Amino acid sequence: MKKICVVGLGYIGLPTAALLANRNYEVYGVDVVPSVVDTINEGKIHIVEPELDTFVKAAVKSGKLKASLKPAKADVFIIAVPTPFHEGYVPNIDYVLSATKAIAPYIEEGNIVILESTSPVGTTDKISEVLKENGVDISKIYISHCPERVLPGQIMRELVENDRIVGGITPEATNKTAEFYKSFVQGEVLQTDAKTAEMAKLTENSFRDVNIAFANELSILCDKFGIDVWELIKLANRHPRVNILQPGAGVGGHCIAVDPWFIVHAGGDAAKLIKTSREVNTYKTEWVIEKIKNEALNFELNNKRKAKVACMGLAFKPNIDDLRESPALYITRNLISQNLDILAVEPNIEQFDEFEIIEYNKALKEADVVVFLVAHNEFKDLEIQDKKVLDFCGVRK
Ligand SMILES: NC(=O)c1ccc[n+]([C@@H]2O[C@H](COP(=O)([O-])OP(=O)(O)OC[C@H]3O[C@@H](n4cnc5c(N)ncnc54)[C@H](O)[C@@H]3O)[C@@H](O)[C@H]2O)c1
Repeated sequence: MKKICVVGLGYIGLPTAALLANRNYEVYGVDVVPSVVDTINEGKIHIVEPELDTFVKAAVKSGKLKASLKPAKADVFIIAVPTPFHEGYVPNIDYVLSATKAIAPYIEEGNIVILESTSPVGTTDKISEVLKENGVDISKIYISHCPERVLPGQIMRELVENDRIVGGITPEATNKTAEFYKSFVQGEVLQTDAKTAEMAKLTENSFRDVNIAFANELSILCDKFGIDVWELIKLANRHPRVNILQPGAGVGGHCIAVDPWFIVHAGGDAAKLIKTSREVNTYKTEWVIEKIKNEALNFELNNKRKAKVACMGLAFKPNIDDLRESPALYITRNLISQNLDILAVEPNIEQFDEFEIIEYNKALKEADVVVFLVAHNEFKDLEIQDKKVLDFCGVRK
C-alpha cells in the first residue's frame, strides 16, 4: 500500500491527503473544482484549519502530494465528498456515487476503496453495486466505510489521535482497511461491518442532538415557569449520574444539524425521539426570534421609537468563524428581513457580504436591546448598563 487517491479535497479530504503524504505515501488528491486543485498544487490551502498549510506545503514540495481533476491508479481510494440533503431532508449521496463512478476505471485487483463521508446506512453497499455496474470485479477488491469524527480547529491532531471505526462489506475488507489506518492512526482502530460503521457516525451526532434538545426544551419550560434554566441545570448536574448539556439558540454546523435526518429518513416512525429532537432544536431557533421581536416591540411601545437590537454572535458555536447552518445567522437574517433595526456582531469575522458586521463595543453603545446568541469569549465580561439583555446562550452566567 503505497499510492493513495483521495477524492474530495475539502475539510476532511485535504487534511487526510496532506497527512498521508507527510507519512511517505504517494498521494493523488482529486477535486472537481479547478481552483482548489490549482491552489493545492501551489502548496497553498483554500480552507481555514490550523497547521494544515504547513502539512500541504511540505507535502507538495516533497512531490508526495499532487492534486488533479482526474483520479489516478492507486492502492487505496478514499472518498471524502459532501453528503448534504435534498429538499425535505432527503439524504443526497449523489456526490458519493459520482466519485465512485469516476474512480471505477482506475481500480485494480487488491485495491481498497474507503468511504469516509458521513453517509446513510447502506451507502457502502451502494458503492459496491455502482463499481460492479461500472465493470469492477468487486470480489477482488476491499470496500469499507471509515467515518470521520475530527473537530474543526484540531483536525491535524485528531486525524492521528482519535479512535477510528472501520466497517467493511466483508470481514476481509474490514481487516485490510484496518491495517491501512493502523499505519498512521495512534488511536484504536475498531473493527465492525459497513452498516454498523455508517450507523455509528450517525448515532454519535444524533446523541448530541437529542441531548441538546433536552436542554433546549428545559430552557423553554423554565422561561414559562419563571425559572433561571442555567441555575437549574447547574443544580441538577450535581446529581452524580446527571449531566445535562447547555441550551442555546438552536443547533448548527453541518454535522449535528444534518446527520440525524439520515436516520429519520430511513427509520420513519421508528425514529420518533431523534426526529422530535431535531424539531425541538429547530423550534428553539424560531422561539428565540419571537422572544426578540416581542422585546423590540415592548421597547417601541414604551419609548415611541424603534429599538436598535444588537445580535451578539453569528457563528454556529463559540469562538469560531464557521457560519454553516448557524442558528444565530438564521435569527439575525430573519430579523433583518422583518425590518427590525439590527446591529450584527461577530468578533471572529471581519467582513460579511450580506450585511454590515459591527464591532461589539460600538454595537453595545448604540443598542437598546442586547441579544446574546453565541457564547464567544469576548462577550463574557462585558459591562452592560441600562439596556435590556436577552441571553440565549448563557454567556452572562
Ligand atoms: N468537516 C468536518 O468537520 C466533518 C467531520 C466529520 C465528517 N465530515 C463528513 O465528511 C464529508 C466531507 O465533508 P467536508 O467538510 O470535507 O466537505 P467539503 O465541502 O469541505 O469538501 C468536499 C470537497 O469535495 C469536492 N467534490 C464534490 N464532489 C466531488 C467529486 N465527485 N469528485 C471529487 N471531488 C468532489 C468538493 O469540491 C469539495 O472540495 C461529508 O460527508 C461530511 O459530512 C465532515
